[in-house]
Parts: sequence; C-alpha cells; structure tokens
Amino acid sequence: MKTIGLLTSGGDAPGMNAAIRSVVRASIFNKLKVMGIRHGYNGLLNGEIGEMDISSVADIIHRGGTMLRTARCDEFKTEEGIDKALNIIEVFGIDALVILGGDGTFKGAKSLSDLGVPVICIPCTIDNDMGYTDYSIGFMTAVETVVDAISKIRDTSTSHGRANIVEVMGRDCGDIALYSGLAGGAESIIVRETGVDIDEVCKKIIQGRNRGKLHHIIVLAEGITSPYKVSEDIKDKTGAEVRVTTLGHIQRGGTPTSFDRIMASKMGYRAIELLLSKKSGRALGMRCNEIIDMDLEEALNVEKTFDEDMYNITKTLSI
Ligand code: F6P
Repeated sequence: MKTIGLLTSGGDAPGMNAAIRSVVRASIFNKLKVMGIRHGYNGLLNGEIGEMDISSVADIIHRGGTMLRTARCDEFKTEEGIDKALNIIEVFGIDALVILGGDGTFKGAKSLSDLGVPVICIPCTIDNDMGYTDYSIGFMTAVETVVDAISKIRDTSTSHGRANIVEVMGRDCGDIALYSGLAGGAESIIVRETGVDIDEVCKKIIQGRNRGKLHHIIVLAEGITSPYKVSEDIKDKTGAEVRVTTLGHIQRGGTPTSFDRIMASKMGYRAIELLLSKKSGRALGMRCNEIIDMDLEEALNVEKTFDEDMYNITKTLSI
C-alpha cells in the first residue's frame, strides 16, 4: 500500500478538519502518499483529486467545516456510479480510502469495500445517530452551540415571562435535544424516541407559573412536528406567550471543541495504523471512552439506542 485517498461526505461536522489533518500527517509520517478527494463521492466520480502534503493541512485543526468540501451524491448510490468510482480509484493509483461522514457515507464506503477496495470509516456527524459508537465527531460542538443559544434565549424568556421553543437538528435522533436540554436546564424536551406529549409540557408551564417561574424552555428535536403547531397548542391550552427559534445550520459550524479535535486526531491516526496492519472494511468508533474498530457491515447493523436514563434525569431535574 502506497497511496491513500481521503474524502469527507454528507453533512459536514466540526472536527472533520482535525481528522483530515491527522490522516494526512500520520500517512506522510509513514511514507504514504495522500490524495485528497474534493466534494465527497461526487468529487470521486469527477476525478477532483489532488495530492496533499504536510502544509496543506496546516492551520485547520481549529476550523469547522471540511477543507475537502462535501456533498450528498445520488449517482454514487447506483451501480454505474460505483463502477465509475472503481475506475477513478484505479486511474489515480489509490490503494485504500479513509472516508469521513455519517450513516449514508458509510453505506457508500461499504459498497466499495464489498468490491475489494480497502476502506476505513471515521464517524463524523453532529447527529450522534450511529448505534455502534458512543460518539461521532462533531456532536459535542453542536451541543455546545445549542447550549449557548439556550442560555441566551433563557435571558429573554425570563424577561418576558414567555415559553420559548428551541428547535434543534438531529435528523431522526434525539441526542442533540437530549444532551443540550440537560446541559441547558430545559424544562421540556421533545424527541421522537419518547413521543410528543403537549399536555405534559402544558402542565409543567402551568405548574412553573404557579410557583413564580418566569421562563420555560422547550427543546424540540427536528422533524417530529412543527414548532409552530406546538406553539399554537401551548398558547391555546395555557394562555402563555410562546416564541419559536429554529437553530438550523448554525449547529453544524463553528470551531470544534477540544474533545472533538482529540477524537478526530486519535481516529485519523488509528485509521492509518489499521491500514498499515492490513486491516480494512472497518468503522472506527468510541465505546466506554476507548477508540474501537468494528467490521463495517456489523457497525451499520447496530441500531441506535436512546438513553432513557438520561431522559429520566432531565425529567426529574426539570420539575
Ligand atoms: O446529518 C446532519 C444534519 O445536519 C441533520 O441534523 C439535518 O437533518 C440534516 O443534516 C440537514 O441536511 P442539509 O444540510 O443537507 O440540509
């Protein structure tokens, strides 16, 4: 093995750059050549590929986003797309790939792995929705962003005596809502995993009001119900004044936390160690604070579980 291809795909996540830096520098240290593939699988199909050196990854460890750029690519999901990718990999003399992204990205990587391309995947998504790993790079940075927003919204919520709904990302996973809700001291957290109970939210608002509580923060995970519908329901049932904030893509940007940079650096380094020891078709992850690697197919089949205990803690502490 002489040449590694490196790409980031799907939604970007803070910490991707730190992982890119780690892969590039660990490769070069081990006398491997690194080819950076731009715009994810799209760039692979279009041959947007160029050699990276030590200085091409200077000054990026602290930056959000991905210097390699990213994309969501439908063509890559087709047989023709995969064939085209195999050709490009051969033409550019790429012997193995390190692929950074989430669930969809890993599925693409598995298609290549099944056809004999040595592949190592690094979990990077703010959603933290991959069951085989306790942690995906970018998650804590997103949580920090949400907690910072909640603290600011809480100030104005208290001043006006309002209820404020904060809609957060996570796709189908409630982790961003759960973790930021706990850290932000939210009164109510609505996630798909536990279902929507507006009466429960209203009861808390009324009970809080009766004992002189001035604010009420409701963290709502995206895609379950409209925050404006929730707002109307609460207004109708409690008479409270309600405001909605959808945080959106602000959650995907920003300087990665130290934890994300450390995870990214460790996983990038481990990816090269695995390839050098002739292991491939592996997904890196974290379990019980240890970096682990698992067969890619096995990893994709592990269902994500919701932390019920943590949810119960948030309920108890927000009485
Ligand atoms: O997977 C990351 C994520 O930010 C999800 O939380 C969100 O549902 C989705 O991507 C948004 O995708 P896009 O940036 O393509 O609109």
